[in-house]
Order: sequence, then C-alpha cells, then structure tokens
Amino acid sequence: MNNYYVLNGPNLNRLGKREPGIYGNETLETLEMRLNDLAQKHGMTLTFKQSNHEGDLIDWIHEAENSKGIIINPGAFTHYSYAIRDAIASVDVPVVEVHMSNVHKRESFRHQSVISPVSEGQIVGFGMKSYELALMSFL
Ligand code: DQA
Repeated sequence: MNNYYVLNGPNLNRLGKREPGIYGNETLETLEMRLNDLAQKHGMTLTFKQSNHEGDLIDWIHEAENSKGIIINPGAFTHYSYAIRDAIASVDVPVVEVHMSNVHKRESFRHQSVISPVSEGQIVGFGMKSYELALMSFL
C-alpha cells in the first residue's frame, strides 16, 4: 500500500482559532481535506493523527514503520523533544518535517530543531502548502 502518515503535534488542533495572523484561518479538517485531494491524484493514501501529548506522537511514529513515509509537524516539540527525535531515528522510514510558519523569522527558541538531523528535509513558512510540498517530495 502507498500509505503515508501525517502527524500533527500540540496545538495544531487549534488551527483556525490559534494566532490567525501566523497560522491563517483554515482548520486542521480543511488541511486534511486538501491533502487527501492531492494524495488521491497521485495514488497515495494518508493516515492523519494529531495529539497534544508527546507519547502519542512517539507511538504513531513506531506504528508508521511499515508506511512509505511520515510528514510531521511536531509543533513546539520540534525545539526540544529528544524523545521524538529518537523515535524517528528508531524507524527506517523517510520523515519530512514541516512548519506552517517560517520558524527562522520568529523567536530564537524556534530556530533550533532537534528533529531536522533525523529528517530527510524540512519545509517551513508556506502555511498549509508546507504539507502539500512535503507530500510532493515523496513522488
Ligand atoms: C509550528 C512552529 C512551532 O514553533 C510552534 O510551536 C507550532 C507550530 C509551525 O507549524 O509553524 O506549534 O510548528
């Protein structure tokens, strides 16, 4: 099966309400619809998960080990979760890290990612398009 996981971390369930000047007005549901449309056009299927809890994200990374790839926006965990970093390193699946905002233009604590060294690549700053670009990177 041509299945990919799309994992979203803390506060991404708040899209549409959360800091719209940074993250826009569209919801996580809209993001999932947009990605499903794109995936369908390319014969891919997607498994979507979101959690505000680190351990859930770790379990889903392990669960995704037989998938074709993982797109992950770890939210603020990006900047300090060695446990998520190690979970990614523990599976032999390509991982693309995405961020809606351009983290490099923001507060200095967002400039560091502990996830990037274990990812294929990082896409930042294009809002929901960051996820679409990540999906396209698997083609
Ligand atoms: C984010 C950027 C992170 O710094 C922040 O903590 C988030 C969202 C983004 O998508 O731009 O929760 O990952």
